[in-house]
Amino acid sequence: MKIKSELRIKNYIPVSEPLITQRDKRELMKAIKSGWISSSGKYIENFEKNFSKYLGVKYSTTVSNGTAALEVALKSLDIKKGDEVIIPNFTIISNALAVIKVGATPKFIDCKINDWNMNYNEIEKKITKKTKVIIATHIYNFPCEIEKIQKLCKRKKLYLIEDAAEVLGLDFKKKKCGSFGDLSTFSFYSNKQVTTGEGGMISTNNKRLYEKCKNLKNLCFGKIDRFNHDDIGWNYRYTNLQAAIGFSQLKRINSIVKKKIEIGKRYYKNLKENKKILINPPINLNGHKNIYWVVGIVIKDKKIKAKKISMILKEYNIETRPFFFPMNKQKVFKKLKMNFDKEKLKNSYYISQHGLYLPSYLKLKKNQIDQICRVVNHVI
Ligand SMILES: Cc1ncc(COP(=O)(O)O)c(C=O)c1O
Repeated sequence: MKIKSELRIKNYIPVSEPLITQRDKRELMKAIKSGWISSSGKYIENFEKNFSKYLGVKYSTTVSNGTAALEVALKSLDIKKGDEVIIPNFTIISNALAVIKVGATPKFIDCKINDWNMNYNEIEKKITKKTKVIIATHIYNFPCEIEKIQKLCKRKKLYLIEDAAEVLGLDFKKKKCGSFGDLSTFSFYSNKQVTTGEGGMISTNNKRLYEKCKNLKNLCFGKIDRFNHDDIGWNYRYTNLQAAIGFSQLKRINSIVKKKIEIGKRYYKNLKENKKILINPPINLNGHKNIYWVVGIVIKDKKIKAKKISMILKEYNIETRPFFFPMNKQKVFKKLKMNFDKEKLKNSYYISQHGLYLPSYLKLKKNQIDQICRVVNHVI
């Protein structure tokens, strides 16, 4: 496709860029000056405490990232070889890795075509005697059907891990996403609502699980003899320096979420008339708000791949990211002969081939969004 030079954006727009404010920097400097630079310190305590309060849960413990949070959460539930864990097929590989690393088998649920979340109606069919956990991950925009999944878990006596990495600040019927799971996990990677570079959190109302997670992320030091360890753990600790930034950002979470939604709404307004793409509205049919963690679009025409569009948008100086690649088709699992690719989970495959997301970071200006949309409407 020939580039229309008058639409080409002068300065490259990255897909994501963190916003670290002066206040964040001041808190970070205080942490440095305090000398508490490793995994103990007031900022960790306060960040964990405030995080729990914000979610409306009893306990939270920091970890080094959202992937680690999932691993620790599963291990704390004693999930092991022979167990099955239900996860979305359209998600980050961290969900599947956590299951595989504890020796259990993931069972994949296809996503819905409209909101990209795991299809609740497919879950029950996948529950067997071996199923121990459902990992319910909220994907990109809207909450998954967490209340129904929670009820199902109760009825079938399964644990629920809620992966809320992408949706900190999103409500499900006036309750925060991330407050439904027996354990809930979060990420503070640079493209997240609250970012501390790297980082993660596990939240729960269960004191026993909380203590277990704290122990597992910290090498399971011995209770009687410190260096005579009780279990196989990890060093998945988080630093007081990171917590200083997290502590500062959590204070302005409402304005962060508001801004994300404003960005999403502007994209929606500019792109909703484009009949060749699917973009999710600010509110869905169930009345749930779209948090627009990312502003995803799916190209309807099956002959046009997202990769091609992404390359063209790059020519216009717009960076994009492809959607997740389905878990059942991952190269690595094929190489390991895990044989996951037997079922046709066609929605996840379709959106993985035709979906991409546009820049949507907090510093993005309205006129940049308008410029991007003009290009998108021209290209697709
Ligand atoms: C839903 C979800 N879970 C887990 C993770 C993993 O988090 P991290 O990158 O902090 O390991 C991500 C990462 O973006 C994610 O989107």
